[in-house]
Amino acid sequence: MKVIITGSLGNISKPLTSDLVANGNEVIVISSNPARKQEIEDLGATPAIGDLHDVEFLKNTFAGADAVYTMVPPGNYFDQNLDLLAYYTGLGKNYATAIEAAGVKKVVNLSTIGGNLAEGNGILKGAHQVEEILNALPEEISITHMRPNSFYYNLLSYIPMIKSQGIIAANYGGKEVIPWVSPIDIASAVAAELTSTSTGRKARSVASEDLSGDETAKILGEAIGKPDLQWILVSDEDTLNALISIGMNPEIAAGLVEMYGALHSGLLAEDYYKNKPAEMGKVKMKDYAKEFAAAFNQ
Ligand SMILES: NC(=O)c1ccc[n+]([C@@H]2O[C@H](COP(=O)([O-])OP(=O)(O)OC[C@H]3O[C@@H](n4cnc5c(N)ncnc54)[C@H](OP(=O)(O)O)[C@@H]3O)[C@@H](O)[C@H]2O)c1
Repeated sequence: MKVIITGSLGNISKPLTSDLVANGNEVIVISSNPARKQEIEDLGATPAIGDLHDVEFLKNTFAGADAVYTMVPPGNYFDQNLDLLAYYTGLGKNYATAIEAAGVKKVVNLSTIGGNLAEGNGILKGAHQVEEILNALPEEISITHMRPNSFYYNLLSYIPMIKSQGIIAANYGGKEVIPWVSPIDIASAVAAELTSTSTGRKARSVASEDLSGDETAKILGEAIGKPDLQWILVSDEDTLNALISIGMNPEIAAGLVEMYGALHSGLLAEDYYKNKPAEMGKVKMKDYAKEFAAAFNQ
């Protein structure tokens, strides 16, 4: 199969590319960075260097593909001028235009837990709207929306707080369960969807391990030599003030607080618990904790 991968050699796209190449597929990897050409070729894939904002580049790159993996790269939350919703919907529209123009018949789209929700999910509204934009494509185009849980690597953002205050403080977690996922497990699920013969439209949850904030803090704390590390549940207001005080775009900070508030209220994970994957992924928090400790000790 000829498969197009967006997201360069990012957290999901790198293991995804390796998996698809190992299984005999022709893989084209889109990166915005010409310096990545060699690394992409070394994995056995073909680089396509260009910008996801350039719809003509996407149309040309998608031509002749049997399947496309679409993802929206993270925006810079500290950019005071970033309109995150417009950024997501802009790339969603580019993908839809290019998919239709190139005659692509199979799409696997990276959405998110809470991607089913039109409201109340904060910064995830963009991913929901991308789902809707793609769903408006002609019926004969098969689409799977991947709805992974919270990525383990989100925990890296707590390193400065652990170093300065000795705790993780957030408006979710504590005694409550956080559904976690590893990008490696997402990559396996995406590869399975891209190469499956099934057609039609669906959403698929992806999960690695469900752990409370307390359990998460215990595993990470042991890995970094702070076995008493606590996960403290704080208010939305405190979280918002903390994010704004470190220079985050205030609108995006409010969206993050709403998203995590929805995890706290149960709204965000409702669909995940109704549609849990048949199997949990292989990478557990104990495995991820080694990577976390390496970053912590750097
Ligand atoms: N964090 C979570 O809990 C969570 C949960 C659910 C879903 N998600 C989704 O997961 C995404 C992150 O996935 P990931 O970790 O695999 O991504 P990632 O590692 O951040 O990789 C994305 C890559 O895309 C490339 N890129 C960025 N802008 C580009 C542009 N304009 N044109 C072409 N390529 C561009 C960059 O590589 P080059 O420099 O090589 O171009 C970048 O490294 C998030 O953006 C979000 O949509 C996240």
